Amino acid sequence: MNDFTPKKVRTSSLAEFKQQGRKIACLTSYDALTAGIFDRAGIDVILVGDSAADNVLGYTSTLPVTVEEMIPFGRAVAGASERALVVVDLPFGSYETGPEDALAVSIRVMKSTNASAVKLEGGTRSQSQIAAIVAAGIPVMGHIGFTPQSVNALGGFKIQGRGEDAEKLIQDALAVEAAGAFAVVLELVPAELASEISKRLSIPTIGIGAGAGCDGQILVWTDFAGLHEGKPRKFVKQYANLASELNLAATNYLKDVQSGTFPASEHEFDA
Ligand code: KIV
Repeated sequence: MNDFTPKKVRTSSLAEFKQQGRKIACLTSYDALTAGIFDRAGIDVILVGDSAADNVLGYTSTLPVTVEEMIPFGRAVAGASERALVVVDLPFGSYETGPEDALAVSIRVMKSTNASAVKLEGGTRSQSQIAAIVAAGIPVMGHIGFTPQSVNALGGFKIQGRGEDAEKLIQDALAVEAAGAFAVVLELVPAELASEISKRLSIPTIGIGAGAGCDGQILVWTDFAGLHEGKPRKFVKQYANLASELNLAATNYLKDVQSGTFPASEHEFDA
């Protein structure tokens, strides 16, 4: 049975969930219809990820997406979500230049979307940005491990924190917490390390490809719903197969239109 308490998920609710050992369920969304469905299902956090870049806009990475492109997605999702905490990603290039720019873009995103928080990538390298945004009263979710906006520097889509790199990842997690973030995404991190980080931090960790020891999980909605054709990545569990459902629907529609079966009399209007 779903536990829909509390009525509205706030950053303080996530801290309470961690203390209670209640796992946090998060999904991405970029539009009002899916956001409304996920919200009513009881998903705790809806992230308007910059994964909109490849999932909506057809870019090949998250790097090209702009603040202007993210704002309508954020507004649509926040407008359709009553209970879930809505977090909007700060796109690449909008916050790396320093705390002042990071604060300015966060204020713009919060004013234009009515979301409850922003997310940005990077540990120690983003500490001053996170601190400046938090000091202005805007909740920040961190994101460490594999950070897709740094895909070129990281040499591709790779697991982070293996071997000697584990200590650097722990320092990143501690830096994000010390800067005042309310939660941190751990992406593509060995399960044992993610579990250790989750124990060391007082803020919740939200894993994606980081194992069961995290305080919560997030999946990109098009992955979890099977909207991509082809084999899903190892860390993805598909809860539906929308690609084949839509393919079947489109094929049946095509046949009906060509054969004249659609529209039928029940779809027509009287004079
Ligand atoms: O943009 C996104 O969808 C994300 C998730 C992978 C956490 O950052």
